[in-house]
Amino acid sequence: MKIGIDKIGFATGRYVLEMTDLAKARQTDPDKFTKGLMLDRISIAPITEDIVTLAASASETILTDEDKEKIDMVILATESSIDQSKAASIYVHQLLGIQPFARSVEMKEACYSATAALDYARAHISLHPQARVLVLASDIAKYGIDSAGEPTQGAGSIAMLITADPAIAIINDDNVAQTRDVMDFWRPNYTSTPYVNGIFSTKQYLDSLKTTWAEYQKRYNASISDFAAFCFHIPFPKLAFKGLNKIIDKNTAIEHKDKLTQAFNDSIAYSRQVGNIYTGSLYMSLLSLLENSQALTAGDKIGMFSYGSGAVSEIFSLQLVEGYKDRLDTNRQAYLDFRQVISVTEYENIFYQEAELDREGNATFETYLTGDYALRTIQEHQRIYEKNDK
Ligand code: CAA
Repeated sequence: MKIGIDKIGFATGRYVLEMTDLAKARQTDPDKFTKGLMLDRISIAPITEDIVTLAASASETILTDEDKEKIDMVILATESSIDQSKAASIYVHQLLGIQPFARSVEMKEACYSATAALDYARAHISLHPQARVLVLASDIAKYGIDSAGEPTQGAGSIAMLITADPAIAIINDDNVAQTRDVMDFWRPNYTSTPYVNGIFSTKQYLDSLKTTWAEYQKRYNASISDFAAFCFHIPFPKLAFKGLNKIIDKNTAIEHKDKLTQAFNDSIAYSRQVGNIYTGSLYMSLLSLLENSQALTAGDKIGMFSYGSGAVSEIFSLQLVEGYKDRLDTNRQAYLDFRQVISVTEYENIFYQEAELDREGNATFETYLTGDYALRTIQEHQRIYEKNDK
């Protein structure tokens, strides 16, 4: 049975911070961010936008009433949870009006878990071919003011509808995963920003890629020339670019190398303008590739490298389906251009604002720009979401 991505949607914060403005404020050469990290701007989410509102907005763009009647599982992958107990997918399930006899869970392993969610969805559909699974990857990447990771922050969500006979891409049964216990990036329950061994984390990312790729090649007798494109988890595009150069080897024909490099540039177009969205980052790179590449055709194989600090990595592949372009947004750039540019001072106030709860656990918020949904209030420690009026 062919199982895979039938629809893919995206949402990001409605504010944007220019890297040149951040560089100026931090007394850094702007080239360090725009060339050294390959980032032009990053999305900023206000307090009224969180993993639930982003995921609901990303889903809203792709789901029909029929999908909502047929979805029987909602999996939300995240590392910026809003609750230690209740799954964020339950709020999304309710906001979207998905039929009640569905399973809703949240999954965690840093930036990796959406990949595990896809595999779970695939296993579920292979047993229940009529099922439709909504896989959400939703995160707000927040490192702290003036930290090394600050320019690599971001906010966004990818929503994927997984079905049998998908309209965009088949998920091939060729996953190779690797787990290694390393402290490259982690966030204990008592902090809102992570501890990061930055340079060590980049080494872990690249070494996980190298060793997982070697195992993948061995198990599947695979070569880089089998792939029309390779998508990477993108904490910042420069690291993924180093990743691409790790898997292009001396036997790769020059024309194929050029093809992979062009595909890579298409795959980082959104990342350069959004920043890191952790779990959704790899899938935003896929979306960017599919929506910007003029070279891909049905039947092409796309390699996927997923990495979550801690660390778990995985390589698997997708096969493009005839007519896949009909399912994509032809003007995503307009949505990105529609964000409101904010100053560094506004960003510092908006991005780091914390809820001020009264004694009973109530908080109200100013009105900020969000997608289709917003966190309206907190009442007795309960988050109250609403759909925005159009
Ligand atoms: N002009 C052009 N380039 C410049 C420059 C200038 N004026 N100044 C510096 N650069 C280049 C550097 O040469 C370097 O490029 P190379 O690596 O190719 O040499 C690049 O800019 C970055 O500069 P630094 O090496 O000085 O590093 P930094 O201070 O910018 O920090 C970082 C980099 C440690 C990765 C930091 O961004 C960070 O902590 N990020 C968060 C952690 C992270 O993203 N880790 C990635 C792996 S973990 C993961 O993948 C999970 C996840 O999503 C978090």
